[in-house]
Amino acid sequence: MEIKNIAVIGSGTMGNGIAHVFAQYGFKVYLIDISEDVLKKAMNTISNNLDRMIKKGTISVEVKESTLNNIQPIIGVENFNKDVELVIEAVNEDFEIKKKVFQTIEPKLKEQCILASNTSSIPITKLANTTNRPDKFIGMHFMNPVPVMKLVEIIRGYLTSDETFETIKELSLKIEKVPAEVNDYPGFVSNRVLMPMINEAIYCVYEGVATPENIDTVMKLGMNHPMGPLTLADFIGLDVCLAIMEVLYEGFNDPKYRPCPLLKKMVAANKLGRKTGEGFFKYQ
Ligand code: CAA
Repeated sequence: MEIKNIAVIGSGTMGNGIAHVFAQYGFKVYLIDISEDVLKKAMNTISNNLDRMIKKGTISVEVKESTLNNIQPIIGVENFNKDVELVIEAVNEDFEIKKKVFQTIEPKLKEQCILASNTSSIPITKLANTTNRPDKFIGMHFMNPVPVMKLVEIIRGYLTSDETFETIKELSLKIEKVPAEVNDYPGFVSNRVLMPMINEAIYCVYEGVATPENIDTVMKLGMNHPMGPLTLADFIGLDVCLAIMEVLYEGFNDPKYRPCPLLKKMVAANKLGRKTGEGFFKYQ
């Protein structure tokens, strides 16, 4: 099956980035969210990110225009009535919300349509089981910022068919991403490796080993990471980091994944990083 038309559900940071990339490579994208306001904000973000790429010389003004023309915003999953070959879900990291979204959209889809989730930690097999097509269900985990990061972690659920996997792998290559095949275990690979490093950096703050600035300097200049772990935590969102650590802690039942008490306290204080203006660092 050739994929040409895609519905992206959720227009937050990940959803608008996913819509942007597919539209830039000529796919017709329906971007679905709950209100006109959030969709307007998402289209603005996409437009600004395209301008940034024009300034950097990576795309032309014509590509910006065609990218924006390829995206049609739609208010409400319940109002969706288009013919698509792929749905990518990028709503909040909440199993019940995702389940509701799949159950609302699935009856509107043709039999061959593939359902993908951009979840960063909810088991793909569990999400697949909320639908009537677990063989056509897969994880497509993009990285933030989506237009820049090359990786798509492709997660096979227990029942994902080889055909679904191959279709999604080929599709990822068409948008010039690099697919990495991963099986469905807590945190997949990306967050199983990344989050304990971030959590350990937070323990270093908690135990007074070093200041956030110095911890980030060590990792940036000593290990050549583009961002220090605490800047990256602020960038991802501390609530997201905590939710992923909890999935690892519960999923493996192993104390090595225990979320740092300081991370829990900062989330309780709504110091979530960039999105609230303050986390380990302050933002304008
Ligand atoms: N579209 C959207 N955002 C873009 C962008 C684009 N085309 N190009 C850059 N950005 C963003 C940056 O995040 C940053 O935001 P501000 O506008 O608020 O400053 C800004 O643009 C910086 O742009 P620069 O051009 O100065 O930065 P850069 O091009 O040198 O590198 C970076 C920016 C690519 C983000 C780099 O710092 C980097 O690679 N950081 C690590 C990113 C990372 O690890 N991502 C994975 C996070 S984990 C994840 O996503 C999965 C999960 O499940 C949690």
